[in-house]
Amino acid sequence: MPNVKGFQSLAVALLAALLPCLSQAASSNQIRPGAVWLDNRGQPIQAHGGGILHYGHTWYWFGEDRSTGQDPRKHSVTCYSSSDLEHWKFRGYALQLSDPEHLGPHWVLERPKVYYSPLTHHFVMYMHLDNAHYRYAHVATAISSRITGPYKYVRSFRPLGLESRDIGQFVDDDGSAYLIFESRPSHGFYIAQLSADRLSIEKQTAFLAMPLEGGALVHDQGLYYVLGSHMTGWRPNPNVYATAKALSGPWSEFKQIAPASQDTYGSQSTMLFKVTGKKQTTVVFMGDIWKPRSLWDSRYLWMPLQMGDGTMLLPPPSPWTIDTKTGVTCVSACGAGPN
Ligand code: DGJ
Repeated sequence: MPNVKGFQSLAVALLAALLPCLSQAASSNQIRPGAVWLDNRGQPIQAHGGGILHYGHTWYWFGEDRSTGQDPRKHSVTCYSSSDLEHWKFRGYALQLSDPEHLGPHWVLERPKVYYSPLTHHFVMYMHLDNAHYRYAHVATAISSRITGPYKYVRSFRPLGLESRDIGQFVDDDGSAYLIFESRPSHGFYIAQLSADRLSIEKQTAFLAMPLEGGALVHDQGLYYVLGSHMTGWRPNPNVYATAKALSGPWSEFKQIAPASQDTYGSQSTMLFKVTGKKQTTVVFMGDIWKPRSLWDSRYLWMPLQMGDGTMLLPPPSPWTIDTKTGVTCVSACGAGPN
């Protein structure tokens, strides 16, 4: 039996473990995977297949606007901003496009991602541009001097001259920027470095012979982790990841991010991003829970990943909080996941 002193130190240890959760819970700010996520106007966030850009002290979330009642000939990319990753302010439509390449009815704009160029101080948006049958398979770019837009359409092209459908974004710790793109004829996906002005592709960095969509990348504790989903349309499947010491490889075998039976808890990867705080670094999985029959009602699954020693695990979704200053997270009732 512990004596009084023992109980005292146990209580102190317990309190220390709970403190970050208690202070975060006090503000009742939770990220709730799968729930309707409302913006500052009280409207569901429309930022599907999206990407995050951390610029200054603010996080910007860009994504596909799938809301109902829009002009079907137009596509819009939304922009939201946040200082805590929990509350998001609608900053308007960063881009509104009317079929820039005459692709016909039901043309497609998916997975917008925005890069900052330290050379030109411009912001460049990449997106997947396609026709109704997904045969055009190009990326498109748009540019703005303001992060929130409006972005001006530049052009569409095939990166490295190859078919490109789902795209992903990665910016390394040294500031170099990469586009990830899936190329069906090659039965795999590419990691390609962007030019300093972010307007074109500089060179191929790696090809991974694994046909994956929703490609995402993160650099954590000296290792690169690449993540993607198998190709099952809007239906979820077990997302997989591989690791490498260098972006150019060699890359490890692919492993599952969560138990296969869970199909990534009904979601598909769209991005991995890091919150580097004073106390810890947290890697966040950003995924879409697609609802193909009502795409406007598709949801988001964001969870802090359990990282280390070459493993990347997506814990079962549950409400969580993050302190973006310290990087400390608190999952559910504390102790149920990484914190
Ligand atoms: C899977 C892709 O990841 C989505 O972005 C979208 O293109 C669907 N396929 C369309 O079926």
